[in-house]
Amino acid sequence: MHTASCKNNSSYSVSSKHIIVHAARLLPKNATTRQIRQACQSVTQHALADAPTASEWYTPPVYAQRAADVMGRIDLDPASCHAANQAVDAAQYYTVEDDGLDQPWFGRVFMNPPYTRTLIQQFCEKLVEQYLAGHVTQAVVLVNNATETRWFQALLSVASAVCLPIGRVQFWHPDKPVTPRQGQAVLYLGENTVGFTTAFNDLGNVCYIAR
Ligand SMILES: C[S@@+](CC[C@H](N)C(=O)[O-])C[C@H]1O[C@@H](n2cnc3c(N)ncnc32)[C@H](O)[C@@H]1O
Repeated sequence: MHTASCKNNSSYSVSSKHIIVHAARLLPKNATTRQIRQACQSVTQHALADAPTASEWYTPPVYAQRAADVMGRIDLDPASCHAANQAVDAAQYYTVEDDGLDQPWFGRVFMNPPYTRTLIQQFCEKLVEQYLAGHVTQAVVLVNNATETRWFQALLSVASAVCLPIGRVQFWHPDKPVTPRQGQAVLYLGENTVGFTTAFNDLGNVCYIAR
């Protein structure tokens, strides 16, 4: 079993210069005040989504417990750290030092991937690939409900069911409060859709994916 401490990423910041320079590139000539404000907001949000701190949002125990109820237990969490696994209780987990993308994936997986845009795409693509190859036999995936993104659509293309939780998931971090800015989705990959419904339907509506 891998154990490693989490990286301390608290020194990350988005500078005003960075925001102004990038926002300017989005603007038409003679931009209105509203367009300037929207461009600045857009750049700030994208920069924050890429900040390393965006990855340290840990799963509340109730979600990990429900995932274990569906699958029997969690064999692997491919993106985690020692603190997060106190709640997830995966038999094995990979940390940023291991680089979960470069490790073998297997069995019943629980995944709440890093939220940076590049990493979330890579983790979701790897899960889909490993599931289709039969190395991952079932998976429960907790992500933002970003249904328009390529990574969400990739997950949906192999998922059998999805739960849309009521309210936002209250993630946790050992040192600071974390508050999500949008809602979440829990996707299930596997054949036990009845078990998934039983485990998750008091947390939000469960929908089956038509094939
Ligand atoms: C959103 S947190 C979720 C943690 C845990 N899976 C959970 O559900 O509570 C994502 C975790 O992935 C870790 N991480 C980031 N890049 C990683 C990588 N390349 N390989 C493995 N873990 C990584 C982060 O340090 C962070 O602890």
